[in-house]
Order: sequence, then C-alpha cells, then structure tokens
Amino acid sequence: MDRDRLTASLGRRFARLATNAVVRRPGLWRLFRGALRRQFDRVAPQWDEIIQTDHLAAFERALEQVEPPTRRALDLGTGAAALAVARRFPEAAVVGVDLADSMIAEARRKTDRVRFEVGDASALSFEDGAFDLVTHANMIPFFDELARVVAPGGYVVFGFSGGSETPIYVDPGRLRGELERRGFMHFADLEVGRGTAFLARKAERG
Ligand SMILES: C[S@@+](CC[C@H](N)C(=O)[O-])C[C@H]1O[C@@H](n2cnc3c(N)ncnc32)[C@H](O)[C@@H]1O
Repeated sequence: MDRDRLTASLGRRFARLATNAVVRRPGLWRLFRGALRRQFDRVAPQWDEIIQTDHLAAFERALEQVEPPTRRALDLGTGAAALAVARRFPEAAVVGVDLADSMIAEARRKTDRVRFEVGDASALSFEDGAFDLVTHANMIPFFDELARVVAPGGYVVFGFSGGSETPIYVDPGRLRGELERRGFMHFADLEVGRGTAFLARKAERG
C-alpha cells in the first residue's frame, strides 16, 4: 500500500474509533478533537475528490420529508450538505458550522448563500430552539447540544454516505434511543444506493 492510501485508511479508522467512543461517552471528545480537526484541515482541499457525486442521495431523500419547509437550518460538520439544504429550502436561512478552518474556507469559496462559521458541534453558540432543522452528513452527533438548538416541532437529519461502512457512522437504533430520551419522535429510516439516512422530529411543546 502506498503512503497516501495508508494515511487515508488510518484516517478512516481513526474517525470510526472517535465516533464510537464519543457517541457512547461524549466527555471523551476532548481527547479526539485536536487530531480530528487537523485530519480534516489536511484533507479539505481534496475533499470533493474523496466523496462520490451521489454521496448525499439518502440525506436529500430525508430532507423531502421535512414539512413544513424549514426557515432556519443548521448543518453541522459542513460542506455540500449545507448547499443541499439551501437548494431544497430556498426561503431558509442556512448556517454551516465546522471545526476545521480549511473545511470552512473551502465551503465559503463555493457559495455565499450559506453562512459558514468555524465552531464545535459539542458547544454551539446558538440560543435554545434557534433552528427548525439541524443536519449532519457523515458527522459525529452531540445529542445534548443538538436537542438544545432544535425548536419544538423541528427536525434532525443524519446522512451516512456509505451506510454502515461509513467511517463516521451511528446505527439507527442508537440514534433513535438517544433522540427518544431527548423528546424526539416520528422517526424515519431511509436507504438510497449505498447511503442511509435517519430523520426524527421533536415533539411540539405542551
Ligand atoms: C466526514 S466530514 C463530512 C463533511 C460533509 N458533511 C460531507 O458529508 O461531505 C466530517 C466533518 O465534520 C467536521 N467535524 C467533526 N467534528 C466536529 C465538531 N465537533 N464540530 C464541528 N465540526 C466537526 C470535520 O471537520 C469534517 O469537516
């Protein structure tokens, strides 16, 4: 195996290890944060070559179930998924947040339709209930924080481009359990080609 392929393979394994650890014990994030940020800062210029053209097919299918159309959307671990949200909901204000400066720089070069910010999904700067849609494409979820910023009646969507083979992958049973405990309901599981997606809606207040 040449050096680039070995580095990519180790990167995928590290992302899988970090995802499994952090989903079970979010406090471990501080151990992975720096290395994961550096990993994505390094790959950002080649990211569009790494992903496949239809890598958001299942994610986009899940967006079709978001009704009524979102007005305020947040994409965490961002890039093309934020653009897909903006395309699907032309009236919405869309914010994309990513840990890695270079991922944000690449995203900003593509569009000014979305507001891109550097930030950490584990500690967001937004008010409680600030969004009626929060999306994750191939991104580690931080359940307490996402549940805080989703408004009552709002949605959360997760996309995994390679299904269970995706390095950053969380199985639907775990997603459902974590979200149910935080007041979400109306779950949907989707599959398109190799990709999978998961959607949940937060209960209305009262
Ligand atoms: C596998 S990439 C996915 C990028 C894009 N969503 C896509 O599917 O093409 C994961 C992204 O999540 C970002 N990320 C990882 N942990 C994060 C966190 N805690 N807060 C914000 N971004 C994070 C990484 O910097 C990276 O850009």
